[in-house]
Amino acid sequence: MRVIGIESSCDETAVAVFDAERGLLSHRLHSQVAMHQAYGGVVPELASRDHVRRLLPLVREALAQAGSDRQSIDAVAYTAGPGLIGALLVGAGFAASLAYAWGKPAIGIHHLEGHLLAPLLEREPPEFPFLALLVSGGHTQLVDVQGLGGYRILGETLDDAAGEAFDKTAKLLGLPYPGGAALSHLAEAGRSDRFVFPRPMLDRPGLDFSFSGLKTAALVALRGRILDDAIRADVARGFQEAVIQTLAEKCRRALEATGHRRLVIAGGVGANRRLRERLAEVAREAGAHLYFPRTEFCTDNGAMIALAGCMRLAAGMHPGRPIGARANWDLGDSCATGV
Ligand code: KG4
Ligand code: ZN
Repeated sequence: MRVIGIESSCDETAVAVFDAERGLLSHRLHSQVAMHQAYGGVVPELASRDHVRRLLPLVREALAQAGSDRQSIDAVAYTAGPGLIGALLVGAGFAASLAYAWGKPAIGIHHLEGHLLAPLLEREPPEFPFLALLVSGGHTQLVDVQGLGGYRILGETLDDAAGEAFDKTAKLLGLPYPGGAALSHLAEAGRSDRFVFPRPMLDRPGLDFSFSGLKTAALVALRGRILDDAIRADVARGFQEAVIQTLAEKCRRALEATGHRRLVIAGGVGANRRLRERLAEVAREAGAHLYFPRTEFCTDNGAMIALAGCMRLAAGMHPGRPIGARANWDLGDSCATGV
């Protein structure tokens, strides 16, 4: 069983081929980051137009790299939501056309299901069930993963996502968009005792998050000061510590509440080295094991969509999903109802 996966929900165009027996055969990606940087964020119309330009060449490259042809592909999986609606529609329309021309099914995948399953691309994948911390530019959720399509949201952000908070604070520090990775790099040179920012929501029970106040705290810390390298690094360090400690404490509580012995980090912020180190400690203290995808599969990619499509095809969990796209789509609805 072999599936081609197409990701176009935001500013990455990505295509990959996954084979049920041989694993990942190829993955190709074009990032639009340089194009959007001048605007300080993703411009939806530009994103859609660029996906149109990139998809077909990437499909050709991914097939060639996989040593595969259209006859050997059993299904076309694509990200059906959530995301930018124009960008999603380009991917959905393209996938539907390809599937029709090749006489294969098209399978709409929830973008966050892709992220959740990405650690299964690694050599030592987690078994079900597991607890997942999903931390991306658009989402911050703790998810109880019982199996393919069995997702229960235990907690989520009430305002900004963790990646969004990283990006907004990075902007305050004068870093180009998206600044999450650059902020974490800057933080490495900073002192941890100069700025101690609040740990949002830790004083309350439950597993929800809130990150919008942290960006304001960083703004207040910077106000009236000359932005030299030392202060930028110290603010970055203080901010990063506050986010990571909050995420770590909520993971600790969630492991305790659910009794899970496997903790998975997924999504772009999962690329953060300090977060991985801290969560490894949390997992160890709880007698659990930590899993994460390699860095390139933390951020948006086609491999996770091809894998999710292959798993759904193998489990017979795709029929009846109409072809389409949804800008807003709860992960909890993604099993039975489809798009
Ligand atoms: O999963 P993703 O590629 O896209 C979404 O689905 O949102 O996540 C992108 C987010 C951005 O906010 C980016 O700044 C953040 O992940 N990010 C990081 C790091 N690398 C990427 N945040 C903190 N530390 C990093 N090393
Ligand atoms: Zn994503």
